[in-house]
Amino acid sequence: MLPSDFTPNDFAAALLSWFDRHGRHDLPWQIAPTPYRVWVSEIMLQQTQVSVVTPYFERFMARFPSVMDLAGAPIDAVLAHWSGLGYYARARNLHRAAGLIRDHYRGIFPTDLAQVQALPGIGRSTAGAILSLAAHQAHPILDGNVKRVLARYFAIDGWPGRGEVLTALWACAERLTPLERVGDYNQGMMDLGATVCTRGKPACERCPVVTGCLACLQGRQREFPASRPRKPLPERDTLMLVAINPAGEILLERRPPTGLWGGLWSLPETAVGSDPADWCLTRFGNVPLGVEMLPARHHTFSHFSLGIRVAAIRIDGSSQQIADHDDRRWLNRADLPAFGLPTPVKAILDALLTGSQQIEGETP
Ligand code: ADE
Repeated sequence: MLPSDFTPNDFAAALLSWFDRHGRHDLPWQIAPTPYRVWVSEIMLQQTQVSVVTPYFERFMARFPSVMDLAGAPIDAVLAHWSGLGYYARARNLHRAAGLIRDHYRGIFPTDLAQVQALPGIGRSTAGAILSLAAHQAHPILDGNVKRVLARYFAIDGWPGRGEVLTALWACAERLTPLERVGDYNQGMMDLGATVCTRGKPACERCPVVTGCLACLQGRQREFPASRPRKPLPERDTLMLVAINPAGEILLERRPPTGLWGGLWSLPETAVGSDPADWCLTRFGNVPLGVEMLPARHHTFSHFSLGIRVAAIRIDGSSQQIADHDDRRWLNRADLPAFGLPTPVKAILDALLTGSQQIEGETP
């Protein structure tokens, strides 16, 4: 069902009249749009913005004006003209496909959708774009911009990388794509996605199809298209040691300048499963007066999740104390605000020092 009583014809008509007035009409590949020129432009535009692509496209066309010129050129010359655009597999595929067109189609770019789609580096959307923009064939397209427009218009849930979501989006694209002026329609859809129905802040007040857009009607533009589901983060764990001396001070150490929590002051750590008393013996030359496990904590980083066990260790005044040092300090409660602590370490110490967790025998 189309939202509201806006038919596919209404959609295409509104989009086309918007394209006539606000779409892009003077991009270099829109001038004499042969399949070869449109193909090269579409491949360049796959991961790269129009403003970056434009000078590359002009230089590429000056050096390789036809499929035969491209097919006959050494790959190094092609790569040199791609240098700076990135994703060099695109250039290699372009060169390989040009060789296939020379060998199988006498150098004439095929105009059958299945044959175009069979060329290296060309998927269904790119094939549809080439044949609609350059040969007026009525094929839908579904690049990133069009996916966003359609996902919003029909409020299609789910990440478009998922098979069922992609199938649903293609079905919408097929239903809306008109038989007439299909090149302008497809270019208009890409332009709408790039300039109005943008990812961050869509300008719905300028959208020609706003009256039928389900996401806009529901105020849910930001929810579409859904982003890729996050993989569960890998888990790591550690045992943090809160060593407390008879003065009630806690041992903190400065972490190395680079890496996790680089340069912050943190609690000493040891492997989960090892005995905190052994750590104490190694560090202080004496067994602890007492060891008590405190509540475990959890901290999520962008790339992993850290389970934190916490052991409080009371040490004897006669133990061989480690002296204050540039990277190692005994700190009391008043000292702590002056030190940069990682969030979970601050939470552990706050809980301990504000008395919500009392260590047995500690004088607060
Ligand atoms: N991105 C991909 N194809 C495009 C085109 N034909 N015009 C503008 N941006 C595009």
